[in-house]
Amino acid sequence: MLNIYAKGKHISEAMESPGKSVLIKGWIYRKRSSGGKIFCVVRDVSGTMQCVIDRSKVSSEAWNSIDSAYLESSVVFQGSVKTDERAPGGKELEVSDLTVLHSGEQFPITEYQSTEFLLDVRHLWLRSERMKYIMQERSHLFRYIREHMDKSGFYEITPPLITVAGGETGANLFEVNYFDSKAYLTESSQLYAEAMIYALEKVYSFAPSYRAEKSRTTKHLAEYWHLEPEMVYFDNKRNMAFQEKLVSSIASKLAKNDEEILKKLDVDIEAIKKIKPPFKRISYEQAIDLLNQKGSKLQWGDDFGVEEERLLTIDEDKPVFIYNWPKEIKAFYMPVNPKDPRTVLCADLQAPHGHGEIIGGSERIWKLDELLERMKEQKMNMDNYSWYIDLRKYGSVPHAGFGMGIERVLKWLLNLDHIRDAIPFPRMINRVKP
Ligand code: 4AD
Ligand code: MG
Repeated sequence: MLNIYAKGKHISEAMESPGKSVLIKGWIYRKRSSGGKIFCVVRDVSGTMQCVIDRSKVSSEAWNSIDSAYLESSVVFQGSVKTDERAPGGKELEVSDLTVLHSGEQFPITEYQSTEFLLDVRHLWLRSERMKYIMQERSHLFRYIREHMDKSGFYEITPPLITVAGGETGANLFEVNYFDSKAYLTESSQLYAEAMIYALEKVYSFAPSYRAEKSRTTKHLAEYWHLEPEMVYFDNKRNMAFQEKLVSSIASKLAKNDEEILKKLDVDIEAIKKIKPPFKRISYEQAIDLLNQKGSKLQWGDDFGVEEERLLTIDEDKPVFIYNWPKEIKAFYMPVNPKDPRTVLCADLQAPHGHGEIIGGSERIWKLDELLERMKEQKMNMDNYSWYIDLRKYGSVPHAGFGMGIERVLKWLLNLDHIRDAIPFPRMINRVKP
């Protein structure tokens, strides 16, 4: 009997141990038999390895169990690593003993399946090679972001996700029954991050945001992960400079550490290496002119749609900031631009090649009167925001911040067709399962 709890070796390590006896554990990825032998390709997180089971060299019990095992059965193999040019990767495992931990049922995913079916069995599809690589990169992205934020002197904070203070337009909130009253899933943690700068000065929240947007685009999720930093004494310029450094640091870590995975995902690593400061900065007004030169009919005051984002960035190698947008299409907390009161002091960061907006940021109104005026203009419920208004009554300071959509960033960097592949269990207008 094999000790199934023994540490064993990962396949990548086993492949580097020719002549050695090793124990590996994994799942059957492919299987065929010929001439009294079964050839199993086994996968684990580190890679795949061909394993050869010779009927004359294992017990009949072991032979029968592997012979009848389905694809994706979990297995433990003991054997010696042989160099063999015919094997994928040049090595194979000559199996001396084995245990099929769980043979289960026939795996429902076969080679050609519709996208909808693969979304229905997402819990199983996550084992596919491609999804594994994307999820590894997602995990690395989280790590690189936290490393940069920590290095830059930020505290990570944890906001509430159930709230009555919406934060953005308030038009796309998911309602929840909160005991005997109504509350909402947060669409942004910004307002709570703002409350914490008075103690911690530079903070970030890294949490889900919820948007009940009825859009069926390749860029919208109903639940997405949102990095929301907030900094005292930052203006729009410092805000953009920090975002540029953050995005560049993520890109350079990706290019430096993750070449192997990026290659498997067919990502253009040279393009990622080009993501370095400075990024282009164009005003909203300049963007409208540019768009009109490119044939768009957009007018001053209009928001950009998918087509405008594409037109603006299709030929860009790096992200582009678009700053100082019309007040009417931006959130209540953005201060008016003293040089052009039709606009507010903010900036969105657009990813290149039409991947869309990855960051929205701005200075925050920090004077009480100005805030109250804007909230009245927008007919907001003052009761729900009384605590936020309070922040402008006691030691208010200039500050700024931004929100970065993690799945948008991953979609852009890995050049994914659809944002749903950037998150393990996507929540979209037509999907809340599995
Ligand atoms: O531009 P948004 O709506 O800005 C805010 O929520 C601010 N309160 C953030 C802040 O300043 N703290 O959203 C910020 C970012 C967008 O740029 C985009 O990357 C992402 O969140 N995002 C979405 N990602 C996926 N699916 C959606 N439905 C998204 N909506 C916004
Ligand atoms: Mg935005």
